Amino acid sequence: MLEVKQASKIYEGKVAHRALSDINLSLDKGEFVGIMGPSGSGKTTLLNMIATIDAPTTGNVFIDGKNPHHLKKNELAKFRRRELGFVFQDFNLMHTLTVEENMVLPLTLDGKKVREMKDKATVMAEKLGISSIMNSRTHEISGGQAQRAAVARAMIHSPKLLLADEPTGNLDSASSKAVMELLESLNRIDEMTMMLVTHDPQAASYCQRVVFIQDGKFYSEINRGDNRQTFFQRIIDTLSLMGGDGHDFSSIRG
Ligand SMILES: Nc1ncnc2c1ncn2[C@@H]1O[C@H](COP(=O)(O)OP(=O)(O)OP(=O)(O)O)[C@@H](O)[C@H]1O
Ligand SMILES: [Mg+2]
Repeated sequence: MLEVKQASKIYEGKVAHRALSDINLSLDKGEFVGIMGPSGSGKTTLLNMIATIDAPTTGNVFIDGKNPHHLKKNELAKFRRRELGFVFQDFNLMHTLTVEENMVLPLTLDGKKVREMKDKATVMAEKLGISSIMNSRTHEISGGQAQRAAVARAMIHSPKLLLADEPTGNLDSASSKAVMELLESLNRIDEMTMMLVTHDPQAASYCQRVVFIQDGKFYSEINRGDNRQTFFQRIIDTLSLMGGDGHDFSSIRG
């Protein structure tokens, strides 16, 4: 479903900076994979390459066998809008719109009929437990509700691949747990392929597999198996083996 082949990224500047080196990664359809690593290790760079927001300097990215970086500009925009879903740390909701208007935004941009958008929004809201706030503005709802609305918006057009960068970064532990349980169940029930970048071992423990990167290079990967609690512990062990500066672990929640 997703294949990253020998991808490297060099940011040019006064001093060129190699942010990623020869990354290989493949995700099967329906997989839920976490990306972890110290601050500055290249996680967002990797996600942005897959999100087609940025192109690799060398190497390739294939999504469903297609290389989106070879598409023309307007085809790329369409590809991104139709095939991908995004969730960010800061929710990225539009403050002048209601929750429902935010949710259907990807469909609005694609020129879908109002009736169809309403129906999809209603089903999605029920699934995510936000039916009661559909007419609220974003400043009237909690962080956890805002992130659920952002997840709803990212999924409403049934993307092939959902990409999330620190989706729980601004949430308290209860909301964080709720959002991760939600992502996990959407992955299980709708078999949506998902990739999550996170610093939070608790959040990462909901993934089926976690890939660790350090200094832009592949470090190791571990599989969840059937016990999330032991997976959580193995994630913490791997992070501490990697070293890093204590503050990377400040978000550890038991
Ligand atoms: N646009 C850019 N131009 C130049 N260098 C960049 C750019 N974006 C990122 N970098 C550098 O590339 C490296 C990787 O950055 P990246 O944002 O991918 O790290 P990260 O793993 O997401 O970190 P964090 O956990 O803090 O979000 C860092 O050294 C960063 O300074
Ligand atoms: Mg980052």
